[in-house]
Amino acid sequence: MPIPDRVGAPLMTRLLSGWDGCDGPLHRCLVDAVRRVIVSGALPQGAILPSQRALAQALAVSRTTVAVAYDELCTEGWLATRQGGTTWVRQPIPARQMAWRGDRLGSYAADQNPLDLTSGALLASPILQRVLSDPWVDDLRSLLALDGFLPAGLEALRKAVTDSFDDVGLATPSAQLVITDGAHQGLTLVSECLVSAGDTVLVENPTYRGALDVFSRLGAHVVGIRTDNDGIDPSDLTTAIHRHRPRLLYVMPTAHNATGVTWTQDRRRDVASIATRASLLVIEDASTADLQLGQSAGPMGLLLPDEQSVLIGSATKLFWAGLRVGWLRGPEQIVDAVLRARMTTNLAGSLPSQVLAARCLEHRHEARSIRRVELRQAQAETVDLLAHYLPQWRPHPADGSSLWVDTGEDATNLSARLRRRGVILNPGPTFSPSEEFASYVRLPLGHRARLAMALPLIAQAVSTPEAGHS
Ligand SMILES: Cc1ncc(COP(=O)(O)O)c(C=O)c1O
Repeated sequence: MPIPDRVGAPLMTRLLSGWDGCDGPLHRCLVDAVRRVIVSGALPQGAILPSQRALAQALAVSRTTVAVAYDELCTEGWLATRQGGTTWVRQPIPARQMAWRGDRLGSYAADQNPLDLTSGALLASPILQRVLSDPWVDDLRSLLALDGFLPAGLEALRKAVTDSFDDVGLATPSAQLVITDGAHQGLTLVSECLVSAGDTVLVENPTYRGALDVFSRLGAHVVGIRTDNDGIDPSDLTTAIHRHRPRLLYVMPTAHNATGVTWTQDRRRDVASIATRASLLVIEDASTADLQLGQSAGPMGLLLPDEQSVLIGSATKLFWAGLRVGWLRGPEQIVDAVLRARMTTNLAGSLPSQVLAARCLEHRHEARSIRRVELRQAQAETVDLLAHYLPQWRPHPADGSSLWVDTGEDATNLSARLRRRGVILNPGPTFSPSEEFASYVRLPLGHRARLAMALPLIAQAVSTPEAGHS
């Protein structure tokens, strides 16, 4: 989404991410950070900032800190204020501005901090260890006679992916498949091909935060559709289709990131028939589908006309994010456009990674069983830890590699307080196009040691709410 005229406190907090890391007094750090955000172009001229009280609450500082910082920025000419308290950006935007600044994926470097809980990534599957001790290098050696550019992907991997689609009854002609550097690249490329600035894109609310960054960078108008434990709300979807005439619908019907919800079959049928009637293109992000703890639900694509269904998959969840291998299945013209777009991005993907991914996929059934056992255990342990340290928090156990938890308090404020104790987590609004789910956090299940270390610190922060420090 483009930055709205009125910037809410959760969004402002993300734009200011890391603001209190400077050496001086807090109000000086805040002045520098707001100035940096304005100079980057992320806050356009005229954007109305959160009230002093709302920003102080979200950043877990005293109102005086924000008041002094706003004052200073007004004196310097960056901000203007009107009696009654409205404060807005006044400084003309620098000539060469970056019109967009990613704010939701900003924290993707979790490995560097042992208390960073922002990534739902899982550790590498033991299958990968096994494959690495196979003579996989021989597969690679046999490719050295080629020039090394295979934009549509390595044949052995394409075959393995096609076989995995066959498993669920989705026949996939060669022209309907392209290998990508992960599901995220697939989503980025297909969105770049289909979405123009100002187009409306429908998403579940909440949704994958990376998708929000992708659509926002393209200048799309992102509309969130209500969801419940069965999936997306059909009547809200119908209303949104009529009101917005959207370009596409992006969904995760199986093991949703962030809530873990897997849609019921009835809901899949309802949504598929609404989309079919409206000729609405559905991008199904199936990269999380391997993390369903129960019986496999099968893709939504089975219920949609082929020309309205794009399916994005990945080796990340089942095997390892470090492979950077994914795929996209869709109508021929869309796959062709994605293929041409990918060639302008990185020409073609890495062959060593694709060789490994192809070998891993041969063990996909076993890999799924391993993930199921691992995630069930991690989920049960995490629920127990929460009952011990934070009995007032309400976890919503479902599928997937994370746990969606209602903290019962302002999670943006809580995460600001926790950041000062070294613990980093994503509050609910990070996953919402409309900055909702104020009291929720998403806890990762993939790093149990990290979580066990962080939870006592979180419990401490929750039990000693600071009035805000200056
Ligand atoms: C729903 C969803 N889509 C896409 C991605 C990105 O996956 P990949 O590593 O395959 O790019 C993730 C990873 O967190 C995800 O959860």
